[in-house]
Amino acid sequence: MTRTRVRDALRLPPSPTPITIAGWVRTRRSAKNVTFLEINDGSCLGNIQAVVGSENPELMRKTEPITTGSSVVVTGSLVASPGQNQNVEIQVSALELVGDAPGESYPLQKKRHSFEYLREIAHLRPRTNTFGAVARVRNYLSYAIHRYFQEHGFLYVHTPIITASDAEGAGELFRVTTLPAGSGLEDDARDFFGRRAYLTVSGQLNAEIMALALDRVYTFGPTFRAENSNTSRHLSEFWMIEPEVAFCDIHCNMDLAEDFLKALVGGLLSDCEEDMAFFDKRIEPGIVDSLRQVAESTFARITYTEAIKALETSGTQFEFPVSWGADIQSEHEKFLAEEVYQGPVIVTDYPKTIKAFYMYLNDDEKTVRGMDVLVPRLGEIIGGSQREDRLPVLERRIGEMGLNPADYWWYLDLRRFGSVPHAGVGLGFSRFSQSCTGMANSRAVVPCPRTPGKAAF
Ligand code: 4AD
Ligand code: MG
Repeated sequence: MTRTRVRDALRLPPSPTPITIAGWVRTRRSAKNVTFLEINDGSCLGNIQAVVGSENPELMRKTEPITTGSSVVVTGSLVASPGQNQNVEIQVSALELVGDAPGESYPLQKKRHSFEYLREIAHLRPRTNTFGAVARVRNYLSYAIHRYFQEHGFLYVHTPIITASDAEGAGELFRVTTLPAGSGLEDDARDFFGRRAYLTVSGQLNAEIMALALDRVYTFGPTFRAENSNTSRHLSEFWMIEPEVAFCDIHCNMDLAEDFLKALVGGLLSDCEEDMAFFDKRIEPGIVDSLRQVAESTFARITYTEAIKALETSGTQFEFPVSWGADIQSEHEKFLAEEVYQGPVIVTDYPKTIKAFYMYLNDDEKTVRGMDVLVPRLGEIIGGSQREDRLPVLERRIGEMGLNPADYWWYLDLRRFGSVPHAGVGLGFSRFSQSCTGMANSRAVVPCPRTPGKAAF
């Protein structure tokens, strides 16, 4: 049996040649002489309407146990539809109920459900319009990310998920151990790797190994953070895209981040028109225009010091105080992108005390060549930097940040042998998905989200 996907069927002209559709019934409506089934198979937002007429009583009987949520396979010819919502519908000549979904007990009845409720039934929510559209957009973006880097000469490299070093030095690590509970979890030598091991927070340090041999590389893989923050933009498990480029300074790094973001957003608007129109209508009115603006704009570029000045002189009362040396909070990031620059803005040269040990130290000895890309509605979407490539400076910085240089011996070696200026960024895929769909919560853009206290499904 060859099946036709709903997405393709809806674009076909009427024809007597039968086609077969398989999917899940969104609604069933019955009149005296006819039954209508709205079938969705996830290939697109739209459903195909299947029509069973009373001229075939046996088929009519077969439709009786079909309810919302049932899975069916129908065969029939495509005919012009008198309905306004579709050009064609399928006149059913054969029908099979594959799996029923008994009446009231199906948790996804045809009505509006809150996103909070849908999170409780994450195993069924991909069957809704919103979550189907999110999945298709994430699929497109994944493909476009690989295409962008492949077309720009980057090698896709695979960095490890289990690691012995804290790539961000922030201590937000999940430990990986096979030591039995209660038997001395401190005894690292007896543990599986003979040392303490963790789930990685970033592939960056390993990507640097590869960039310092292959010139330009990128990773696209899972990262984990045991960060106890229950916000709408933090997950404990998320995927990150991390390009890393040799012979590249902070300026070339900013150019890359800007070009890459604009190319992806522009491609999304032209290639996922139907789903994006849905997000614009139902989720975040104006999202398409604001993404188009991102794709066509020139990102503002300011230093941290300038950002602080802009916030201090804005006359706005923030929840978190603004002062040179303090971290820029999410409310400040959003204010900069939404109110001050009204579009994406890249902030560079942060105080060294609030950024990771690996960032290139400026001559003022106070700031580092870190860079964050801030966007409206979300704040930080990309974090990156030029890397410290001078051995003595890096050794000193590792010590200053209270880390053990011995843990980073190989990372230091990269500066000992053939060191070059290099730089890279990390784009959080869940945050990027939020920004592209207008979905308010990161728990709604990942099929099975992990957050503090939550790891069901
Ligand atoms: O700014 P971060 O911590 O930077 C790094 O990890 C660098 N190693 C990247 C690099 O230079 N190669 O994280 C990068 C991005 C953030 O801008 C954000 O988009 C996302 O990762 N991110 C999170 N997304 C969801 N949940 C979390 N808990 C996140 N933490 C960071
Ligand atoms: Mg960051």
